Amino acid sequence: MSTPALHETISDSFDIAWVRHQFPSLQLQISGHSAAFLDGPAGTQVPRQVMDAVQKYFLEANANTYGAFLTSRRTNQIIADARAAMADFFHCAADEVVFGQNMTTITLALSRAIGRELHPGDEILLTTLDHDANFSPWAALAEKGVVIRKVDIRESDCTLDLDDLKSKLNAKTKLVAVGYASNIVGTINPVAEITRLAHAAGAMIFIDAVHYAPHGPIDVKALDCDFLVCSPYKFFGPHMGTLYGKKHLLEKFKPYKVRPATDTVPECWETGTQVQELIAGIRADVEYLAELGRRCDPSAQDRRSALLAAYRSTVAYERALVTKLIAGLLAIPGLRFFGITDPQRFHERCSTVSFRLAKGTPLDAATSLGDRGIFTWDGNFYALNLTERLGVEPQGGVLRVGLVHYNTSSEVDRLLAALREFAAG
Ligand SMILES: Cc1ncc(COP(=O)(O)O)c(C=O)c1O
Repeated sequence: MSTPALHETISDSFDIAWVRHQFPSLQLQISGHSAAFLDGPAGTQVPRQVMDAVQKYFLEANANTYGAFLTSRRTNQIIADARAAMADFFHCAADEVVFGQNMTTITLALSRAIGRELHPGDEILLTTLDHDANFSPWAALAEKGVVIRKVDIRESDCTLDLDDLKSKLNAKTKLVAVGYASNIVGTINPVAEITRLAHAAGAMIFIDAVHYAPHGPIDVKALDCDFLVCSPYKFFGPHMGTLYGKKHLLEKFKPYKVRPATDTVPECWETGTQVQELIAGIRADVEYLAELGRRCDPSAQDRRSALLAAYRSTVAYERALVTKLIAGLLAIPGLRFFGITDPQRFHERCSTVSFRLAKGTPLDAATSLGDRGIFTWDGNFYALNLTERLGVEPQGGVLRVGLVHYNTSSEVDRLLAALREFAAG
């Protein structure tokens, strides 16, 4: 177990005051309490830079694309700049970045397009750990005779059972759809290894990085994944989704689209008029993270290096917070914890934790915490396969606490004190 002194050292090197200053909504007060936003896994707060970019779009650039006049040209440029920003975020080319309403909508569109090319008897490998948005869109292809297989978890620590995965991969597997990190238990899956296994079997891989994106750097080039999705509203940006796809695959598969819309990649995947003001916000979101990175490491020059520097700092900061949180939770009598608890293995998890208390339902606990200005989530968070597998679905699921880099050690203290009181009451 890490010592309190270690927590202090790590926390001291991170300019949390500057970070929190960037997020105006963190100032919210509820009945004399400061709000503690521990609800990040369902959507994070947004820095001022993102709000300003959205407002600036409406003031200076509000038009549809490809018109022969100023605001339309500005809109084209804003979309191009946001694509370049997300290309740095993913580590890919700008024409491999697709914008969409959210991850679920993007995945439904992609699964339908890929499904056009599949045949009865082809197989798709899914997991018990995933959010349903990385399950049902693929499972629906069973209608075409595609065989759906599901990788189990190891219940003791809520990690993916890789032996089970290997046993279910075969020459008929066309696609493996796997999460980068679990939005309930925080497990980080070995996606590089899973990508290698999928490719060795001749299958494509689709990675749901929605939950991972606020917690760690994404490098699609190093992973060599075929597709990867994440949603900016989970990493300090606006309510949208984004897709990375290898260019030759974005060209190979044909999206359902209307006739006048372009056939050019990546725009052909972006159905109808985009939420351009929010796309402006996505660029500002990436710039915020890069600015954080340059503050953490002034030697980081280009935007990609700055993003990596930001994540080096936030990973260490969040690790210290979650170490303290889990130690505190495990000391609460009767608490049932789901996921990795061994600090030596915390590189295999992010700072999202789920548990049940001996007393009351997760909703009771979330309501009690909410009344004290501590925002947490109860339920299954659409990771239905997992709550069913763990047997907690009929009892209201779990209570989930998510820490991101704007949360503080004192918020963890407040949460633990409130939980101890609730558990004892
Ligand atoms: C791991 C994970 N995947 C997918 C989704 C769905 O994302 P979206 O809301 O962008 O459709 C979520 C949302 O909670 C999630 O946590």
